[in-house]
Amino acid sequence: MAWVLRFFSSSIGQKVLMALTGLCFILFLSAHLAGNLLLYRGGETFNAYATRLHSLGPLLNVFEIGLLVMALVHVLFGTWLFYENYRARPVKYAVKKSGGGQTLGSATMPYTGLLVLAFVVYHLIRFHFVDKTIVSIYEIVNKAFQNPIEVTLYVIAMVAVAVHVSHGFWSAFQTIGVNHSKYMPFIKGVGLIFSVVIGLGFGFIPIYMIWV
Ligand code: HEM
Repeated sequence: MAWVLRFFSSSIGQKVLMALTGLCFILFLSAHLAGNLLLYRGGETFNAYATRLHSLGPLLNVFEIGLLVMALVHVLFGTWLFYENYRARPVKYAVKKSGGGQTLGSATMPYTGLLVLAFVVYHLIRFHFVDKTIVSIYEIVNKAFQNPIEVTLYVIAMVAVAVHVSHGFWSAFQTIGVNHSKYMPFIKGVGLIFSVVIGLGFGFIPIYMIWV
């Protein structure tokens, strides 16, 4: 037991925890996008899906608590590792070198992470912690996406999610040790395709709903 504690209090252990929770969020995003695509089929289909999901009762609550714990772990260790990195290099380089292989995703990880966090808090207040007995969840989403400001905010947030995932995807595999030079280009390719699918898949929903 002591070695588990020692491992997770080391920076490599914390990176592994970030990678594992990040991979779980990738699974969650895939399932969430699949469910949200039902919004294209109209209120009846989407509400029926939401009702089926809520009929899982305590199972859904366990799942939600799991998501919350993972989010806390991911955000807290992400912030801590960022701070440790910053502290290890307090003097900024006079000339900022773009270290080989740096991408938009890797260079902006803490900032896109912060944006995604702000989005998730706003998103939960808007769509999750609402009274769904007065109006249906489809009506709540549809009403929100009649507002051009809200649609714009959602699209910006989805760009942040896509950029964050574009780096997080392959970086997570690398951290857990799947970093063979033979497989890495494939993993990076899948990560890039996945982030584009997530960005366009989620991002197009508000645009479609304000349109029709
Ligand atoms: C256009 C994009 C999106 C739409 C329309 C959407 C829609 C929804 C709706 C309607 C709910 C409430 C479900 C319910 O309580 O019945 C929900 C929950 C949630 N969404 Fe989204 N979502 C979108 C994107 C995202 C993204 C990108 C993330 C994560 C980065 C996310 C994270 C969550 C989480 C964590 C929950 C709570 C899940 C639960 O408690 O079971 N959503 N979303």
